[in-house]
Amino acid sequence: MKRLVFLVLSALLTLLFLIAVGLDQHREWNRYQRTFFKSLEQHERRGMTGGIKQVIVSNLGRVDRCTTCHLAIDKPQLELGQEPFRSHPGDYLKWHPVEQFGCTVCHGGQGLATEVKAAHGDVPHWEEPLLRGRLVQASCAQCHHNVQEITPQAPLLAKGRALFKAKGCYGCHAIKDFGQSVSVDLAEVGSKSYLLMEADFEMMDPPHDRIRWLMTKLRNPRRLNPGVTPEHLPPGEEEVFPSAMPHFGLSEPEVEALTIYLLGLTASDPPASYVTPAKPEPTLGFNEVVTHGKAVFEKYGCAACHGIGGVGGRKNWNGGLGEEVPSLLYVKAYYGNDVESLKNLIRNGRQPVPRADPHRPQPGLYMPAWKDRISEEDLDALVAYLLSLADRLPAPAPAPGEPPPAEPTARLRRNRSASAAPPRAIN
Ligand code: HEC
Ligand code: HEC
Ligand code: HEC
Ligand code: HEC
Ligand code: HEC
Repeated sequence: MKRLVFLVLSALLTLLFLIAVGLDQHREWNRYQRTFFKSLEQHERRGMTGGIKQVIVSNLGRVDRCTTCHLAIDKPQLELGQEPFRSHPGDYLKWHPVEQFGCTVCHGGQGLATEVKAAHGDVPHWEEPLLRGRLVQASCAQCHHNVQEITPQAPLLAKGRALFKAKGCYGCHAIKDFGQSVSVDLAEVGSKSYLLMEADFEMMDPPHDRIRWLMTKLRNPRRLNPGVTPEHLPPGEEEVFPSAMPHFGLSEPEVEALTIYLLGLTASDPPASYVTPAKPEPTLGFNEVVTHGKAVFEKYGCAACHGIGGVGGRKNWNGGLGEEVPSLLYVKAYYGNDVESLKNLIRNGRQPVPRADPHRPQPGLYMPAWKDRISEEDLDALVAYLLSLADRLPAPAPAPGEPPPAEPTARLRRNRSASAAPPRAIN
């Protein structure tokens, strides 16, 4: 009897073992390895072993098993025509040897996973989506703080960085120690937790990851933040305005470049030996004070709210001036005789701004204070630029028979009379 039990148990154990081996053979990585090894000549196989392969990069705190399937990644002579058997494009692995860098520091994904979907980060609760193709450029900034130096290899990262400045994003967002705090600091938006995006994810199409979240936001900030009107609220609760972030009307290539730049703003802090420090921005010389002032206007992100070139038109829900941030084309008309008050306005800002309707909530945008962050020399140049904007107003050359246009123009007056505020006395 004992013998029978022993025999049955042994048979069961053998069966379980065979099942386990069989299942292992059917694991995804195993199938890829078999396909790959079958393609090799006898002499090419020599010295190559199967099984899970992993690269441990303790300096970067990463363990990557990507090469379990991506078997020819650093062996161009063995590559096959399709993934995961291609060799790596370009010289990236020469500059960044696999043993010292692994893969996930550039590509994201889940280093330890050995199934395609999981490894590529395409599973719930994994917060590092795989960066494919051009999106990989986002990762370069964590080590190459000197972005200019790698512009040929990461052109979209450089473009995104330039766009961030040109569109005036700094007027509302700081990145670490530069920029305004009208809205959130974006220094770590590239590693922002998915938990904080859950409500947004519900309002957008999948895939629900940081890449798509950023793209959705940049294409139309109001899509994820449409506001709540009083009809949809219990009586007595205050309405919520849509996102105060302007709809920039970005082109798709601009959205891609900005997404890459923002994805690269992470909490990642590699050891100094991996980092090339940033070069200080070159100090520009200007021949003309107005050109200098224009550069100051761009640097501090005034265009964020006042529009590129100060032409206005950015929405400010319930703002006193026609629900828009005012155009700056009329600065000369208002402050031409009192430049000191203009300077004080820029130094001290104006908050809160007057409301169009006192029963509705406070407008989201206000004129922020720059204090002494703008140097006196830059401030003088900025003022000269602002005063020069009046030249952009249509020349008062009425056609015969027409009445001459009022000064300032009709639109401004409409805006002004909508304002509950008296004409400005600044301070
Ligand atoms: C289990 C096998 C397997 C593992 C492990 C694996 N991959 Fe892949 N990889 C594939 C296959 C198969 C493809 C072909 C395209 C696909 O199915 O997504 C691929 C494609 C890719 C591509 C090209 C993507 C595209 O769609 O153009 C990149 C980049 C990539 N893998 C990176 C990685 C990184 C980084 C890791 C490690 C975190 C990794 N892979 C781990 C199997 C794997
Ligand atoms: C220094 C950063 C860096 C590292 C490290 C790196 N890659 Fe890449 N990888 C890139 C860049 C950049 C591209 C896109 C190159 C191009 O399109 O010319 C790329 C492209 C690829 C592609 C081609 C498909 C695609 O998305 O364009 C695959 C597959 C891939 N990498 C896999 C890997 C694997 C596997 C490893 C680890 C052994 C690895 N990479 C390590 C930067 C890196
Ligand atoms: C984890 C840090 C890290 C990441 C991420 C990284 N690099 Fe590098 N890279 C380095 C280091 C370190 C070197 C070697 C620097 C040296 O030798 O001066 C290097 C070298 C290079 C070089 C060669 C420079 C030269 O003159 O020899 C280029 C080009 C380059 N990286 C581009 C990129 C690009 C493009 C990306 C993003 C796709 C990237 N790197 C991502 C750390 C990184
Ligand atoms: C006029 C002010 C303003 C300007 C200019 C502005 N934003 Fe915003 N931004 C906001 C406000 C307010 C929020 C928060 C409300 C929201 O998420 O819609 C925000 C949110 C964001 C977020 C989400 C941050 C998070 O953690 O939730 C990103 C990313 C962002 N902005 C990027 C940009 C970029 C890129 C630019 C320039 C192209 C820009 N913003 C210009 C006001 C602004
Ligand atoms: C976050 C949005 C925002 C940014 C960034 C911003 N402004 Fe303003 N600004 C406003 C708002 C809103 C007003 C209107 C205040 C009011 O209603 O009284 C205003 C008013 C002004 C005015 C007065 C216009 C008038 O018609 O009275 C000037 C001048 C001005 N801003 C200059 C600047 C300059 C220069 C910069 C960059 C250094 C700048 N602003 C950046 C929002 C902004």
